[in-house]
Amino acid sequence: MRTPIIAGNWKMNKGLSESVAFAHDLAPRLAPFTTVERVVCPTFLALAAVADELKGSNIGVGAQDAHWEAQGAYTSEVSAAMLKGIAQYVIIGHSEVRAYLNETDERVNKKIKAALAYGLKPIVAVGETLEQNEAGQTASWVSGQVRGALDGIDAANMQNIVMAYEPIWAIGTGRNASSEVANHVIGGTIRATLADLYGDSVAQAVRIQYGGSVKPDNMAEFMAQPDIDGALVGGAALKLDDFAKLVEIAAQQKGG
Ligand code: 13P
Repeated sequence: MRTPIIAGNWKMNKGLSESVAFAHDLAPRLAPFTTVERVVCPTFLALAAVADELKGSNIGVGAQDAHWEAQGAYTSEVSAAMLKGIAQYVIIGHSEVRAYLNETDERVNKKIKAALAYGLKPIVAVGETLEQNEAGQTASWVSGQVRGALDGIDAANMQNIVMAYEPIWAIGTGRNASSEVANHVIGGTIRATLADLYGDSVAQAVRIQYGGSVKPDNMAEFMAQPDIDGALVGGAALKLDDFAKLVEIAAQQKGG
């Protein structure tokens, strides 16, 4: 059975003190739901302090990105090597990084390899634009992103990788993909591509999240789908009650 994983991507929200205070309040709210893996991804600014705050809780911490080089002349970047010992997860290939920071499949691939080398678990985000979706290109695009991201990564590493399907048109828009459609892409495209690359038993073991306007109102529908193993959450992860509710729903429906 795949352990469900709910990750909150705080994006560029919450400063240092607000992040720490939020983590402080969140920990006891999430503590009971031990059958679900729970992760928060603050900004780099707050990452170490949040990790410190959550030490001893069973809540994981993730970065929102990581460079593949260990160190060097890469102004503004933070490396996977630097995150070792602070974060357990790192989001790689988020559509906002792809769109605003010229992220490419090749860079995503290098970042995943570096993250794995430093013992971080990548949460690899893929997803299509509205235009691609309307042109019927979702399957070919998403499958291509999965293949590009995982190029040269062997089956043994797949147990440390989480995939996230985030249709770009559903992110921050309030317009979520229907749970059936999300399940169809996650099972029929992403898991099928993993099966093609690594075989069925590896593909069946990889956790794949849905992301895009996940809220307490629609969480149960997503968690009822067989191929959806959790959620990557933006807006609703910024609110204590909402994020706690998402985790509670995941525990009820998928927590065994
Ligand atoms: P929203 O939940 O705000 O739509 O954001 C989703 C997302 O991009 C998580 O990475």
